[in-house]
Amino acid sequence: MEVLIASEDIQRRVCEIGKRIASDHPVGIPLLVGVLRGCVIFMADLMKNIPIPHEIDFISVSSYELSSQSSGKPRLVKDLGCDIKGRDVIIVEDIVDTGHTLEFMRQTFLERGPRSLKVAALLDKRPRRLRPVPIDYVGFEIPDRFVVGYGLDYAERFRHLPYVAALSPEELDAEPAARTVGAT
Ligand code: IMP
Repeated sequence: MEVLIASEDIQRRVCEIGKRIASDHPVGIPLLVGVLRGCVIFMADLMKNIPIPHEIDFISVSSYELSSQSSGKPRLVKDLGCDIKGRDVIIVEDIVDTGHTLEFMRQTFLERGPRSLKVAALLDKRPRRLRPVPIDYVGFEIPDRFVVGYGLDYAERFRHLPYVAALSPEELDAEPAARTVGAT
């Protein structure tokens, strides 16, 4: 396992993003929508760094049929608990890989008439992008490696790590290869 982004660097960047979100929303109360489950640590740290009133909600989208492969067919497993018509919505994602999941969420939310729709993603795995989705707040661009930590998992492991680390091909082979379709 190779550490790609140290905990202190993540904290510094999340603080910057929080301040930018606040200055970009001088009026209204933005609604942060976290994409379970990978978002949880990013979402919690981001909330602490947005110095204006804001609300939160969560959705769950299943997109991976194998533990490190994108099926490219997202599905809403858990929907929002509130109406977003007229709201300033910010989708909070752990990582944007192919972009299929984010494109699906943007389309789904735009049909519901928010006043604005933005995206905050901790990690942008740009070399793998297949769909041209806009990301307003990016933590870090990363190479085409499978990463874990700071909420991201491999077969439900490693979410607790305070840093982001890349698994080697050997480590990916050694872990349980398949899991049932579930929330990312
Ligand atoms: P996309 O639809 O291909 O952009 O996939 C987005 C989702 O795939 C993310 O929300 C993650 O849950 C998952 N994912 C993509 N790459 C990684 C990775 O390197 N580590 C862990 N999860 C990943």
